[in-house]
Amino acid sequence: MYDGVKIIIGIIIFLVLLLFPAWYQVGKAAKVPDPKLAEKALKAEQCVEPKLFMKTQHMKLLDEWRDEVVRSADRYYQSSSGKTYYKSLQVTCMDCHSSKKEFCDQCHDYLGVVPYCWDCHIEPKENG
Ligand code: HEC
Ligand code: HEC
Ligand code: HEC
Repeated sequence: MYDGVKIIIGIIIFLVLLLFPAWYQVGKAAKVPDPKLAEKALKAEQCVEPKLFMKTQHMKLLDEWRDEVVRSADRYYQSSSGKTYYKSLQVTCMDCHSSKKEFCDQCHDYLGVVPYCWDCHIEPKENG
């Protein structure tokens, strides 16, 4: 009998630990961003610049590209890896990151950032 009680307490503790991660998530404002790479990006394996740089500087890079294209008609970007990219939001970034919803929006929605670029630039067609 005494051992039976210990076993039951043991099972309860085990279940609490097992379920803790699920309870812990309840009541959180939004799920953490989980940007997913589209097939083309997965194949390419690399972004225009290293991941950390892209994570923190992509908005600045896009600004620079826009200014250089619009003001100087300078359309080619030499990356730190020596590769050349056509400076374009639609034709370059969104070609690899073809699902805005699964990629860009994952972070932006979480942070409440709404880039106004899509007022003019065309979003990629979502394929699922
Ligand atoms: C040739 C395909 C390709 C192009 C073009 C490309 N990307 Fe990427 N991008 C990737 C890949 C692959 C990764 C993941 C890199 C890694 O894991 O090292 C990535 C990562 C990123 C990240 C970081 C994601 C994270 O989870 O931290 C951001 C932000 C990003 N890209 C934005 C852009 C923007 C903006 C452009 C255009 C200026 C662009 N990408 C152009 C393939 C591409
Ligand atoms: C890893 C998370 C992440 C991913 C993926 C990501 N962004 Fe961002 N984005 C951010 C953060 C963080 C900011 C800056 C928010 C701030 O400074 O207030 C930002 C800001 C921006 C801005 C500037 C918006 C403004 O109003 O200042 C642009 C433009 C932008 N992102 C474009 C893109 C595009 C295009 C993609 C997809 C190709 C993308 N981002 C993917 C995290 C991400
Ligand atoms: C009012 C309309 C408008 C808005 C809003 C806008 N753009 Fe543009 N953008 C343009 C036009 C027009 C061009 C010139 C197109 C060309 O010469 O190819 C351009 C060119 C660009 C280029 C270089 C060429 C290309 O094909 O992409 C980049 C990069 C760019 N914009 C990024 C952005 C980003 C990032 C945002 C949001 C932070 C943004 N734009 C918001 C109208 C706009």
